[in-house]
Amino acid sequence: MNPSNVAMASGAPAPSGLSDEPAGRFPWRVLVSVVLAMVLLLALFWPPPAFGLPPVGQASQGALGEELFTNHCAGCHVHGGNIIRRGRTLRLDALKRNGLADPAAIAVVAAAGRGQMSGYGDVLGPGGPEAVAAWVWEQAQQGWPRS
Ligand code: HEC
Repeated sequence: MNPSNVAMASGAPAPSGLSDEPAGRFPWRVLVSVVLAMVLLLALFWPPPAFGLPPVGQASQGALGEELFTNHCAGCHVHGGNIIRRGRTLRLDALKRNGLADPAAIAVVAAAGRGQMSGYGDVLGPGGPEAVAAWVWEQAQQGWPRS
């Protein structure tokens, strides 16, 4: 037998058994709790109010309206236009001409559709038609600067 093996076999287990255990376990627990705390904080503060919750204020309703428009309307109404019926755009002059120059009327079209456009009430969710209509109306008044 190699003398160094004997020395390791007899000397190593006792000290390593005592010092490794706390050193090996404690940091993991700290790490796990730090990670859990971060996940919790992120879940609470990072995402904007979850879908289905009522919009909290003007700013969050505007953000919701913009997001809904991008997801559900911009495909046909890119830049507030209309790729299917050219005269039926979301620009102020067209909305006025077609009797839709207020957010409530736009919300009705968003939810229930009109003519060749089908309704999007289901996908927009509770408060969705109003949020997207408010954003569309704001954009129409400003000449569609944001899309
Ligand atoms: C699949 C294409 C399509 C999508 C998606 C779509 N629209 Fe339309 N939209 C149309 C068409 C076509 C018309 C013209 C309807 C008609 O009068 O026959 C229209 C008309 C409108 C009008 C009336 C415009 C005017 O000048 O008369 C509004 C307001 C409107 N859409 C809002 C929305 C909103 C808000 C969304 C998203 C929730 C949306 N649309 C999604 C196709 C679409």
